Parts: sequence; structure tokens; C-alpha cells
Amino acid sequence: MTDHSSIIAATVSYVKQELADAEGGHDWWHIYRVWQQAKHIAATETVNLLVVELGALLHDIADSKFHHGDENIGPAKAVAFLQTQVVPEAVITHVENIIRHISFKGGNQEKSFYSPELGVVQDADRLDAMGAIGIARAFNYGGFKNRLLHDPAVQPNMQMTKEEYKNSTAPTITHFYEKLLLLKDRMNTPTGKQLAIARHTFMEQFLDRFYKEWEGEI
Ligand code: ADP
Ligand code: NI
Repeated sequence: MTDHSSIIAATVSYVKQELADAEGGHDWWHIYRVWQQAKHIAATETVNLLVVELGALLHDIADSKFHHGDENIGPAKAVAFLQTQVVPEAVITHVENIIRHISFKGGNQEKSFYSPELGVVQDADRLDAMGAIGIARAFNYGGFKNRLLHDPAVQPNMQMTKEEYKNSTAPTITHFYEKLLLLKDRMNTPTGKQLAIARHTFMEQFLDRFYKEWEGEI
């Protein structure tokens, strides 16, 4: 095995073990899809592939219980793992920055870190919240939180704070308007953008049928 492939193989087995009892939205298969998509997008960008692959594999490593609480756990675990591997210090720091900044939601804060490698991993992560997989993940999450599929009386709330969003009990359909349909305009790379348009169109078609089926029209 080359250095690259042995580092990746060790990382895959570390991540699988860490995520062994993760919930459905952030399980190994989410990581697997983001990893595959990140490699696909990276092939059309000028990036360091080792950084992209490690960033994709390690981006959701924190136990989901802590994920939105202590934001240092994920990066710290990833760094500790990478220090056991033959990986240059600069790569470790770059991967740490990707993990810290991938979930950057925009808004008031200054964007304190960006790199083409972060752009690729972030696009791949966002794509996994869109299209057929994105729809499946949204309803899986809604079910996990015991939310309604849809309630025609409940309108999406576009002005929610991060805290309100986290504690929202709104039906899952509102999540499409509050987040999923906004993602196509937030892509970083041309390839990501192109893939996002197709996934966006599919979600619009899904919603169109959903409302018609809701009323027994089709
Ligand atoms: P990320 O992977 O970017 O950290 P989140 O943890 O916010 O994303 O969400 C993980 C998955 O759960 C995504 O597919 C997202 O669409 C879905 N999800 C998050 N919040 C909600 C919600 N309020 N309703 C339905 N699905 C949600
Ligand atoms: Ni993710």
C-alpha cells in the first residue's frame, strides 16, 4: 500500500469504530457518501487530495450527543488520531480547520477560515442533505424527533435563531424551506453547484407531488 492508501485505510477503520452507534443522520454511511462525493468533486478542483479525504472522513467524528454542545471535541479527537499516523503537521492543522469550519452557517460571524479543500468537503456534506438522500435524512431526523411529516397550518419560519432551530418542533416539511432549498445557492465549487441544481430540482418535484398527494389530487 502507498502511504496515502494506508493512511486512508487506517482512518476509515478509526471512523467506523467511532461511529459504531451513531444515529442515522451522522452514521458511517453519511461519512462514506460525503467521502465518495468529495473525491468526485476534488477530481475537478486543484486541491490536496489527502486533506480532502481526511477532512471528509473525520468531519463528523464527535459523538452526536456533544456535536452541537462542545465544538472542540470533534477537532481534538481528529487531531489526536492523525498524530498516531504518518501525516505531516501541516495536513493535520488543515484537516482540523476543515472540521472546525465545515458547519459555518454564515450570518453575523466573520468567516475565519476558507480553503479550496474546505470548499470541496463542505459541498459534499451539503449535497448529502439534498436530493433523494437529503429527503430520506430529513424524514429520518423528523421521525427520530417524533415530528409530523407536514401540517398545512404550519408555515416555515425563516427568521429562526440557531437555538430556536435546534429546539423547533415544526413538521419536517418546513425544514425544506428553512434549510434544504437554500443550499444550492451556497455551493463553493462549479461541480458542487451543478450537482446541487439536479438535487434541488428533484426536491422541488418531490414537494410538488407531496402536496398533490396530500390532497388526493394524484
Ligand atoms: P450537518 O450534517 O451539516 O451537521 P445537521 O446535523 O444539521 O447537518 O443535520 C443532519 C441531517 O439531519 C441533515 O440531512 C438535515 O437535513 C437533517 N435535519 C437537521 N435538522 C432537521 C430538522 N429540523 N428537520 C428535519 N431534518 C433535519
Ligand atoms: Ni456531515
